[in-house]
Amino acid sequence: MCGIVGYIGEQQAAPVLLDGLAKLEYRGYDSAGMAVCDNGEIRMVKATGRLKVLEALTKGGSTLPGTAGIGHTRWATHGSPTDTNAHPHFNGSASIAVVHNGIIENYQKLKRKLESRGYHFVSETDTEVIAHLLDRYYTGSPLEAITKVMHRMEGSYALGIIFQDHPDEIYAVRKDSPLIVGKSSAGNLIASDVPAILKYTRSVYFMENEEIAKLTRDDITFYNIDEEELEKEPTEISWDLSAAEKGGYDYFMMKEIYEQPKAITDTISPRIRDGKIVIEELGMTDEEIAQISKIYIVACGSAYHAGVTGKYVLEGMARIPVEVDLASEFRYRNPILDEQTLVIVISQSGETADSLAALREAKAKGSRILGIVNVVGSSIAREADNVFYTWAGPEISVATTKAYSTQLAALYLLAMKFSNVRGTITNEELTSMIEQLQQLPRQIEFLLGSHDRIQKFANRFLAADHIFFIGRGLDYAISLEGSLKLKEISYIHSEAYAAGELKHGTISLIEDGTPVVAVLTQEELYRKTISNIQEVRTRGAFVMTVTNANHTDVEKNADFVMYLPETNSYFTNSLAVIPLQLFAYYVALGRGLDVDKPRNLAKSVTVE
Ligand code: AGP
Repeated sequence: MCGIVGYIGEQQAAPVLLDGLAKLEYRGYDSAGMAVCDNGEIRMVKATGRLKVLEALTKGGSTLPGTAGIGHTRWATHGSPTDTNAHPHFNGSASIAVVHNGIIENYQKLKRKLESRGYHFVSETDTEVIAHLLDRYYTGSPLEAITKVMHRMEGSYALGIIFQDHPDEIYAVRKDSPLIVGKSSAGNLIASDVPAILKYTRSVYFMENEEIAKLTRDDITFYNIDEEELEKEPTEISWDLSAAEKGGYDYFMMKEIYEQPKAITDTISPRIRDGKIVIEELGMTDEEIAQISKIYIVACGSAYHAGVTGKYVLEGMARIPVEVDLASEFRYRNPILDEQTLVIVISQSGETADSLAALREAKAKGSRILGIVNVVGSSIAREADNVFYTWAGPEISVATTKAYSTQLAALYLLAMKFSNVRGTITNEELTSMIEQLQQLPRQIEFLLGSHDRIQKFANRFLAADHIFFIGRGLDYAISLEGSLKLKEISYIHSEAYAAGELKHGTISLIEDGTPVVAVLTQEELYRKTISNIQEVRTRGAFVMTVTNANHTDVEKNADFVMYLPETNSYFTNSLAVIPLQLFAYYVALGRGLDVDKPRNLAKSVTVE
């Protein structure tokens, strides 16, 4: 995610842009920039680092005069956080400036075509392609050039655009990334989200897909992709500023839970092409994939839990031995590695000290390192041999949700790629898996619709002292994550157990009313786990089950059932995690805790 703002009016634009960007830093904060029309030219300033760097560079905007401009705060996706990759981006003659939020999925193909026509690129970004495409199609009409470019681009984009020879206009374009337009007494504005313009107006237009907005100092006109004028009604915003930054949610955690469908779509779509899994950033030939003798997955916390899922999926699908290790253990146990060992380091922040140290330990032993990382340009991303970025966007809440879900998606894609190369799944099986994978976002949206029911159930456990999670195989992997989500934000003691382990000691902890969450999505293990549920229920446990929709028989063994839509047995963790995230959220909410900032925790643990 990135933050976009635009302003045209009677005031100096740069201070308004800086003010708006400050309200959007939660959307991305690794670099920022502005472009303003002044006396027939577009002047631009951009810099790596937080917004305050740009603010200092432009002395609060005073060194960038002009009353029409666009601004951007970046969450790097294509190209590390550098001054050159920061937005806005220019065409060659600096007569067109663009800011962009989203991912242009076919940018490499477009870039190659433009380069073959003599266009020269200075950045690694997908956004610069838009600036040069506009240049290619511009013959004096911004609207005509914009619609032609829209027909060429695939992917998601929210754009702010200014044209040097149209200094009294700014343009906004939207497809799949949010963009709003506001009319105020101070002038007309565009923004990625309400917080940026709430200070100026509560009357906003929410742009729909493939709509274009043309803003002058006095008017706002909307068009569709066929250049036909549209009538739109404004919406009155009732939120206060802090609620607006959370998109109207009480906490970032819930906002990010709801962003999971898009995060997964953004992560898998660029890697599925013509019915094949294409992971260019893997940097491995099919021969090298075929020669992998063992995989280590190394991480901390929820990233480690994603790794446990990865073990079951990679071993089950690709038949490659996988060992999952806590980074803080791996780095001190002198692991046995060689050139045929692939070490996968999973990290949302890319800055977790233990995971970074484990990466260095493995690298020193000659293994190939693949990072699965969410923050572009982070330490783990830079030091890995190759990096598979998850496109979850900035994750603000300390308890990870959308980043974790995109880590699962990344591991599924790797397993499908490795299996297809090593011949352990047929092309038909791969095709079916791809279809099931692409269904996950919609199925998650369906599950999110049960939030009320889960909140009612969660409210029965606000005073619980202990809550246990049990499961077998992949159901054990997701139990680990469900248990961590609950304890880290509700402060209720919780443990996850392999269900088959209960009789080896744990079951002594079960007493009358003890809440137990049982996950049963693996068909071949279903009956076994039902037996474990019966064991704990006879000792008084209160059982919530998460299971597949075809298992209505579970109701005679459970006090609460959460049914999941059907999917590939390897992908069930992506669905089972949704009710578990909601359960943890509502227990913490019900206990009156700060869900986004749990005590004693930090979003990134950059110390040992
Ligand atoms: C997860 O909700 C926690 N915040 C924590 O366990 C986290 O997953 C862990 O610290 C790893 O962080 P990373 O993914 O940024 O490396």
